[in-house]
Amino acid sequence: MYSKSAFDATYWQQRYETGQTGWDAGAITPPLREYFTQLGPPDARRILVPGAGRAHEAEFLHRAGWPNVLVADLAPAALAALQARVPGFPADHLLLADFFDLTPAPPFDLIVEQTFFCALDPALRSAYARQCAHLLRPGGKLVGLLFDTEFTQPGPPFGGSRAEYEAYFAPYFDFVHFETATNSLLPRQGRELFICLEKK
Ligand SMILES: C[S@@+](CC[C@H](N)C(=O)[O-])C[C@H]1O[C@@H](n2cnc3c(N)ncnc32)[C@H](O)[C@@H]1O
Repeated sequence: MYSKSAFDATYWQQRYETGQTGWDAGAITPPLREYFTQLGPPDARRILVPGAGRAHEAEFLHRAGWPNVLVADLAPAALAALQARVPGFPADHLLLADFFDLTPAPPFDLIVEQTFFCALDPALRSAYARQCAHLLRPGGKLVGLLFDTEFTQPGPPFGGSRAEYEAYFAPYFDFVHFETATNSLLPRQGRELFICLEKK
């Protein structure tokens, strides 16, 4: 179990309403675009983008023809932004929900991480790893980016290090990739890990 943090739905909704959304790259980031592109033709895999925000990753996958892409976010404004840009995105794949309350019914094949982990209270990090494992089928993957740097300003975002993260994920996942991303956005270059973790 985990305890709710100060960064709740009200906090995040206000960030959207006041335009304090500096995390939003405005498009899918190059590492995830490259990863998705090499997956090959779309199939029935169930893909979850938690803490999706305006959900550029989900938009990319949807436009590429992947039919089972679900997004979850606490902030109605985040989901509304995706709906406005991509009216054909299935309404029942927009989950206004707390990631920690989601259930694997049925389990997911892939979870996409993009500036969600760093937005959480660091006290929730081991719960994040456990919940990702709970939501995935055995062999399912958690893929995305984690900051490998510390921030001087109070978070979110909260930074961290590769060694710290390894301890959270090792109980549940095999590490396929866990290294500095080579194709990050310019301001994030050398400061983020590309991860591809396979559920044991
Ligand atoms: C830093 S933003 C990142 C958004 C998006 N992934 C991006 O890169 O643009 C973090 C997002 O996580 C959402 N969020 C925070 N805690 C959450 C939780 N427990 N469950 C679901 N969404 C959450 C916030 O509403 C916000 O949209």
